[in-house]
Amino acid sequence: MSSEKYRIPDIDFYQKEMIKPMAEKLFFQDKINFNSIVDVGCADGALLLELSKSNPNLIGLGYDLSEEMVKDAKDNFKDTKTLQVFQDKDLLLAAAKDTKIDVINLSSVLHEIYNGAKKDVIFALNLIKEINAEHIVIRDMYCGMENKTIDIAIDEPWSKLYQAVYKTCEEKEYFFNKLSSYLFHRGPVNSRYRLLDFVLKYRYDVNWEHEVQEDYLAVKWDEIFTLFKVLGYELLLKRKYSPAFIKQTLMKDFALEEDSVPKTHLQMVWKLS
Ligand SMILES: C[S@@+](CC[C@H](N)C(=O)[O-])C[C@H]1O[C@@H](n2cnc3c(N)ncnc32)[C@H](O)[C@@H]1O
Repeated sequence: MSSEKYRIPDIDFYQKEMIKPMAEKLFFQDKINFNSIVDVGCADGALLLELSKSNPNLIGLGYDLSEEMVKDAKDNFKDTKTLQVFQDKDLLLAAAKDTKIDVINLSSVLHEIYNGAKKDVIFALNLIKEINAEHIVIRDMYCGMENKTIDIAIDEPWSKLYQAVYKTCEEKEYFFNKLSSYLFHRGPVNSRYRLLDFVLKYRYDVNWEHEVQEDYLAVKWDEIFTLFKVLGYELLLKRKYSPAFIKQTLMKDFALEEDSVPKTHLQMVWKLS
């Protein structure tokens, strides 16, 4: 599998964006006990470093397909004794072989996996199976009623959001340009799915050409739920919500009331039964 596809045009900006919601990415920290964790899509290792501050003995194994990210994580881990990072699945599995892995963490990575080829998805799902962790933790973007077309004649939060977004795009050039580029690359914004995908990404400038082409809501949740159940996991926690920074940005940019901001994300914890 080539790491070229995972090259990010402006990696510094990308990494800064990723640590903004760190507290919310660590939602599982006080919900389960763990001393070992595999972080799939660990990027520069920020989450493992943060976790090791409160547990210096934490065994943390990061895994990422991007060569640049793995290099940055290696640099960031150089003064730690129990954190390692891998770009190669077999090396990761070899390192995990003699350790009981308490958590496999999938933070903002499942949607990227599902934007890849089918074989990449199968590869990642097999990795989850092989690690056989006690818990699987997920945090990603989520749209429940994805195919529902928005009807502006109905007074409900999605139609309010739709109207607010189009009004802002008519009035402000920046938003207009983002919307036209989105329409060109991804097609009409007339469903909950597309509207959510657009409002989750319009604010990216530096990496726009990269981000606009990604489907932020690509995860096939039914596939995930079925697989985890077949592997013997049960759902301990499921929460739909909007991260505070997204809620505030949407309220400010589109002059929205709080109750018109849709739930954009999902947090889940699964446990081997
Ligand atoms: C949006 S970032 C999230 C980083 C981090 N988990 C966080 O929540 O801040 C996604 C990361 O997953 C990596 N990635 C994408 N597809 C992957 C795959 N199939 N396997 C492993 N890592 C992948 C990317 O290189 C990137 O570093």
